[in-house]
Amino acid sequence: MNEFQNLRFEKREQIAYVTINRPDKLNALNQAVMGELREVFTQIKDDPEVRVALLTGAGEKAFVAGADINELNKNNPVEAKAYTHKGQAVLDLIENLGKPVIACLNGYALGGGCELAMACSFRLASENAKLGQPEVKLGIIPGYGGSQRLTRLCGKGAAYELCLTGEMVSAEEAQRIGLVNHVYEPADLLPAAEALAKKIIANAPLSVKFTMEAIERGMEMPLVEGQYIETTLFGLLTATEDMREGTRAFLEKRPAQFRGK
Ligand code: COA
Repeated sequence: MNEFQNLRFEKREQIAYVTINRPDKLNALNQAVMGELREVFTQIKDDPEVRVALLTGAGEKAFVAGADINELNKNNPVEAKAYTHKGQAVLDLIENLGKPVIACLNGYALGGGCELAMACSFRLASENAKLGQPEVKLGIIPGYGGSQRLTRLCGKGAAYELCLTGEMVSAEEAQRIGLVNHVYEPADLLPAAEALAKKIIANAPLSVKFTMEAIERGMEMPLVEGQYIETTLFGLLTATEDMREGTRAFLEKRPAQFRGK
């Protein structure tokens, strides 16, 4: 099943598991990894069997320790512009997948790794995770949307602190500033992500999809326009079979059987 060189990919019970697999380089994002991430998430987007994706890093040390500094060091300005543009498109694909993606941060999530995590819908971290945007220490700035997503996710103060000091924060501190949702002991990270995925999978598929649309699109709009999107999607959902089933099941005091219709 696995056609990738730098990723492990499998599907079980409507969950896609994607593991970035360069543990000897702390899963650093080179062009090959980025190309394969684009490929795998395009497959996941189009695969009706997959409802939720889990993204993690191989080994025990890192989710992703950033863009590949060996490649960066050789880039000329024109290549660097093209690569960051391409990389941003991969993260945009993940953010706008129409399906929840849960980042499981099992160690370092630095630079491009932190940016990749921020493009996901959820960030769950193990206690040993360390997050940061250390680009300023390398004479660059975040290039995969970090300066933008971090500001939107955690506010300007936290974005300045992380991006200007380049220092790493602990999983606990990352949770305090809203950069990660939850923190677990390392052995509990994947089971917790699976439990979260299963809770989402049990809900009405179109409700999940339209909630994501309302949140993602609404973020970029004035409140009044975002609320208009919300009310339109709300109205649309009342025409679905799952809405009838969900409300009927509640009244009949039984679990709903959703069909995504
Ligand atoms: N790009 C390329 N290679 C990387 C890398 C990156 N971003 N991060 C780690 N590696 C490589 C190291 O060069 C080393 O390779 P080697 O064994 O061939 O020498 C290997 O991964 C292990 O890393 P090492 O530095 O020996 O591990 P450590 O436990 O001492 O330190 C870090 C871990 C994460 C603190 C350190 O690797 C680091 O600071 N990495 C760069 C983080 C960064 O600046 N990311 C943003 C890039 S824009």
